[in-house]
Amino acid sequence: MLEQLDRIQSEATAALEAISDPDALRAWYGVHLAKKSRLMTMLGDLGKLPKEQRAEIGKRANEVKRALEAAYAAKEEALRRAALERSLAAEAYDVTLPGRPVQAGRLHVTTVEMRRIVAIFAEMGFQVFRSREVESDWYNFQLLNFPPDHPAREMQDTFYTTNPEVLLRTHTSPGQIRAMEALRPDPIRVILPGMCYRYEQISARSEIMFLQVEGLAVGHHITMTDLKGTMIDFARRMYGQERQVRFRASYFPFTEPSVEVDMDCILCNGAGCRMCRYSGWLEISGAGMVHPTVLRNGGYDPDEWSGFAFGMGPQRATILKYGIDDIRHFWANDLRFLEQF
Ligand code: DAH
Repeated sequence: MLEQLDRIQSEATAALEAISDPDALRAWYGVHLAKKSRLMTMLGDLGKLPKEQRAEIGKRANEVKRALEAAYAAKEEALRRAALERSLAAEAYDVTLPGRPVQAGRLHVTTVEMRRIVAIFAEMGFQVFRSREVESDWYNFQLLNFPPDHPAREMQDTFYTTNPEVLLRTHTSPGQIRAMEALRPDPIRVILPGMCYRYEQISARSEIMFLQVEGLAVGHHITMTDLKGTMIDFARRMYGQERQVRFRASYFPFTEPSVEVDMDCILCNGAGCRMCRYSGWLEISGAGMVHPTVLRNGGYDPDEWSGFAFGMGPQRATILKYGIDDIRHFWANDLRFLEQF
């Protein structure tokens, strides 16, 4: 019987060594250590042995049982570790890899420029007055002294709706009338930023929609000097304290007198370059003293009130400032363009 126990031990040990997965281990336990195994049956039958053999066989059988149990436990632990190591190797991730870059959004370059303009005029006491983009012919043209068939309308063809009276505004100037209607009889100092629309051939130089910033000041004793001071101060704060500003006589139906405001070229400081087309000057705004008819149309008596107005296209200045070669980039939504600012 002792030999039998030796064989049970060596066979079980050998079988255990060959095992490499938990299912086989469980089956091995069933065969070698469970209740009905040869070893446990022998242990159970010890009582049937003659007394003189019982102690020796019993001792040996218990030794074998403990040895097999220990080997089983060791194998179980070895399989657990092996499984853990396999999963670590399979699911390994490298904590030293750089993280995925976060895509930070940013403001559109025209938004940035618009905010600077608004901030500068805010410091001069101008409030933002919001006005509509869908206008009537009456506000967009007639109240601004463009009668029907006036040749100045030629410069501003627009998009009409099915109602011939309703159109997309071609400039922010109709907001002057809206502001006067809303704020009379008080003095006014507002800017009106917003989108304008013109029916034009789209090209590198012109788009069918663009931003303007209108300005309007109405008060007692407002003169051309106030307009000039405001324009010069704006140009210097926006484009550099060294800027030179000049005023050229011009024509708009809603101002009298009318001027074009130029500043010396920000690239060549007036020496002449491709950007300023070798003139040394860049046009930044149309402007003028509010026409008496327009004041009257807004509800202000031109004998008591006077005012100045200006209208600029900040995208043109942005193009010049950054050397942007095509105005269509602004609405193309191409990140390669937008991310440069
Ligand atoms: N509305 C004019 C345009 O779009 C620009 C302009 C010129 C506005 C003179 C003004 C102004 O307020 O005084 O071409």
